[in-house]
Amino acid sequence: MQTLQNDTFLRALMHEPTDYTPVWMMRQAGRYLPEYKATRKDAGSFMDLCRNAQFATDVTLQPLDRYPLLDAAILFSDILTVPDAMGLGLSFEAGEGPRFERTLQHEADIKQLRVPDMADLQYVFNAVSSIRNALDGQVPLIGFSGSPWTLATYMVEGKGGTDFLTIKKMAYARPDLLHHILEITAQTVIEYLNAQIEAGAQTVMIFDSWGGALSDRAYITFSLQYMKKIIASLIKTADGRKVPCVMFTKGGALWLEAQAEAGADALGLDWTVDIGQARARVGKTMALQGNLDPAVLLSTPEAIEKEVEMILASYGKGSGHVFNLGHGITQWTPPDNASAFLAAVRKHSQQYHM
Ligand code: CP3
Repeated sequence: MQTLQNDTFLRALMHEPTDYTPVWMMRQAGRYLPEYKATRKDAGSFMDLCRNAQFATDVTLQPLDRYPLLDAAILFSDILTVPDAMGLGLSFEAGEGPRFERTLQHEADIKQLRVPDMADLQYVFNAVSSIRNALDGQVPLIGFSGSPWTLATYMVEGKGGTDFLTIKKMAYARPDLLHHILEITAQTVIEYLNAQIEAGAQTVMIFDSWGGALSDRAYITFSLQYMKKIIASLIKTADGRKVPCVMFTKGGALWLEAQAEAGADALGLDWTVDIGQARARVGKTMALQGNLDPAVLLSTPEAIEKEVEMILASYGKGSGHVFNLGHGITQWTPPDNASAFLAAVRKHSQQYHM
């Protein structure tokens, strides 16, 4: 087992002291990098990239090679591998986003839904082991999954980016059917994340990308409750070290107090909330990850530096902050602006840790 050379990120997630604020970028391997586009072309398609452990390892390491200031690596894969393994038939059409051949809208189909055999997701666990080996202790590796609610939006609607009317209609008209989907999906996510931890993931993140579309009570019932259940069943330590869990609901700042009770070690924040106010709301032991608007990276190095300084000042002194974007980096980000961002975090954060 390689010793971890840089554990700043894991320490910050556990609210332990660090010398500076660690940073990584949500979706840091992706289309804004020319080297990613080249590997994706070699692989043939996005899913071929995910299914091949060597390609997945190569693209995971690309941002780390380019940006030595990154404090974490994230498994290259997708949240939609899970519904794909559940038999829904995933495809990515160029420029169109994900689509499923089959949807879960009829009672008969919903009742047939099963926890898939983890062997059908073995390619993900192989990628985790291969990446962990290739990292050789440089920085920790993040594993991840979608939340049951977010995965269910794709399974019911058949695609992303909708107004969620089909699944919301189900939530109000047939909550029993939706709870059935969420229950099976939560069991699947528990097995999926634990297998990633066994394969070498040193922390896990749950992406609830569409939790913010829910009404106040519906968020607790249909999203938070299932994430809480998952977190309670995750493997807690590996290689003698705590495996922290980060929970991220995009558009979820209204529910920070409730999220802080769900058992996660850290909460992800999008850009709609002031991080200092969020810190005051979640209590002293909860770490926060965020919360730069990814659109800031489309601007100039000077503007990026200013925004970074404001977030650091708002969080204030002390541990428990992992700097990140409030959502995925956009494909139009100039790679040099990402460099400017990482440099600004390192330069300005040290004064908050003295
Ligand atoms: O470095 C990394 O973080 C990459 C690993 C990663 C991907 N997807 C690769 C990807 C991660 C962590 C994800 C998570 C993911 N996937 C989420 C949760 C995070 C979020 O952004 O809210 C969601 C909702 C998805 C579903 C998904 N996958 C969509 C909606 C799309 C199409 C839209 C888009 O951003 O392109 C994808 C495709 C996808 N997943 C790409 C990548 C790099 C682009 C595919 C390509 O190369 O064409």
